[in-house]
Amino acid sequence: EIVKTKGRERMTPTFKRNRRLRTTANLRAMVRETTLSKNDFIYPIFVIEGENIKNEIPSMPGIYQFSLDQYEAELTRVVEAGVPSIILFGVPSEKDACGTEAYNDEGIVQRATKLTKRLYPDLVVLADTCLCQYTDHGHCGVVEGDYVDNDKSLELLAKTAVSQARAGADIIAPSNMMDGFVAVIREALDEAGFVNVPIMSYAVKYASAYYGPFRDAADSAPQFGDRKTYQMDPANRREALREAESDIDEGADFLIVKPALSYLDVMREVKDMTNLPVVAYNVSGEYSMVKAAAAQGWIDEKAIVLETLLSMKRAGADLIMTYHAIDAACWLEEN
Ligand code: PBG
Ligand code: ZN
Repeated sequence: EIVKTKGRERMTPTFKRNRRLRTTANLRAMVRETTLSKNDFIYPIFVIEGENIKNEIPSMPGIYQFSLDQYEAELTRVVEAGVPSIILFGVPSEKDACGTEAYNDEGIVQRATKLTKRLYPDLVVLADTCLCQYTDHGHCGVVEGDYVDNDKSLELLAKTAVSQARAGADIIAPSNMMDGFVAVIREALDEAGFVNVPIMSYAVKYASAYYGPFRDAADSAPQFGDRKTYQMDPANRREALREAESDIDEGADFLIVKPALSYLDVMREVKDMTNLPVVAYNVSGEYSMVKAAAAQGWIDEKAIVLETLLSMKRAGADLIMTYHAIDAACWLEEN
C-alpha cells in the first residue's frame, strides 16, 4: 500500500494497531472483559472440636483450625471484608468406619452452622458434604475390603446433607465423588422439607496432588490407597463433561470444577455446555505455592493473587472458592 505523507511517498505494511485500546487507564477500563468482585468469593473455614484452639496450618500460612470460641473472630473478619459466603469443613474428635460424626446433629459443622446463622443470618453458609474427615480410614465413603462402596456411601451422605440443612446450612456442597450423590441428596433434602436448599455439586473433581495441604488442615488423608477409584484422572477432558452432564440431569444448582488453575481448559468447556453457575475451587496447594513464593519475596503476592483469581473468572467461573478471599476482597477495595 502506498501512503502519502506530506508530499513524500513511502511503503507501509498493513497491520492492526491493537495497542490503540490500551493507551490510557480509562480506555483500558472501558474495554475490560472480565472483572473480579468480592461477591465472587466463597471463603473456606476449618472448625475443630475443643476449646481455645487457633492452630495455623503449617503448609497454609494465614489459615487456621478454629474451635468455636475462636471462630467468631474469623467470622467477623469475613463479614467486615464484605465476603458474602463461607464453606465449612469440620475436624471432629472422633472418627469411625462409617463417619458417624458427619451426620451427628450436634457435630462440629452443625454447631458451627447454627452459631454462624445466629450471629450473621445473612452470611451464606455452605456445608461440604463428605465423609473423609470423619472416617478412621480417611476415604470419602464406606469401605468394603479396599474398595469404596458407592451405594452404601450414598445413604450416609444423604443423612449428612439433611443434618447440615437442619442446622441451617444455606447450600449443600457435596465433594465425595460417589455416583448419584446429587440425585440421592436432592431426594433426601426434598423429603425432609428443604426444597429450597440448593446443591452446589463438586461435579468435576480430579484426583489431585494439589489437595495435600487441605488434608493436613482437615486431617483427612486416606490411611491406605488413594482416591483414584472415585476422583477423576487429571488426563481426562471429555470425562469431565460426562460428570457435569450427570449432575445437571440429577438436579445440581451449581457445578464446581476443582482444582482450578491446572484445569482452566476444563472450566471453559464446562461453562460452554451449561447455563448453571460454574464455580472454581482455588484449592489448598494452589494457595500454598503462592504463599511460599511470596514469603520468599519472589513474587508480588497481591498482584499474583488478583491475576490468578481473574484468570478463573475469564475461564468461565462465576464464583471462586478461595483461601485468599478475605485478602483479595480488601485489595479490591483499595484499588
Ligand atoms: C473432601 C474435600 C477435599 C477438598 C475439598 N473437600 C479433599 C480431598 O478430596 O481429598 C480439597 C480442598 C483443597 O485442597 O483446598 N472430599
Ligand atoms: Zn472426601
